[in-house]
Amino acid sequence: MKYVLLTLALILNTGTANAAGDAEAGAKLFSKTCGGCHSVGEGARGGFGPELNGIIGRPAGTTADYQYSDAMKNSGVVWTRDKLAAYIEAPKKVVSGTRMIFWGISDPEKIDNILAYLETFQPK
Ligand code: HEC
Repeated sequence: MKYVLLTLALILNTGTANAAGDAEAGAKLFSKTCGGCHSVGEGARGGFGPELNGIIGRPAGTTADYQYSDAMKNSGVVWTRDKLAAYIEAPKKVVSGTRMIFWGISDPEKIDNILAYLETFQPK
């Protein structure tokens, strides 16, 4: 209910918000909050964290050039939008023992925007 009201308020305020998220806003958020550890796009590779191309639908812990924690490798998680949203909000609640140190984002609009941005790196 809180979420519905928030979305509604945003639509009334800006006229542009939609449930699928705003990829452009997501790009800025991503580079600020995830980009220090993760890369996406052409030439993306594992760094401090794994690259995130095609992350939606990808089984956790499966890029070839990154050394995951055992927790991530054995999590059995498949990164659906819902799982990703939950992980961004509270990484350890989804993969207890993950090495990703992240305070989490609780604003559902910001999470939606980041996911909309990541969605632009899905294989066509
Ligand atoms: C401080 C560095 C850091 C930040 C900031 C960070 N991550 Fe991570 N992330 C990691 C590390 C390290 C891992 C690997 C965790 C493991 O192996 O347990 C990871 C793993 C992941 C995975 C799992 C990937 C896979 O191949 O299974 C996803 C998805 C992810 N991060 C998304 C994000 C998003 C989205 C953000 C920004 C909202 C973010 N991360 C911010 C370090 C970070």
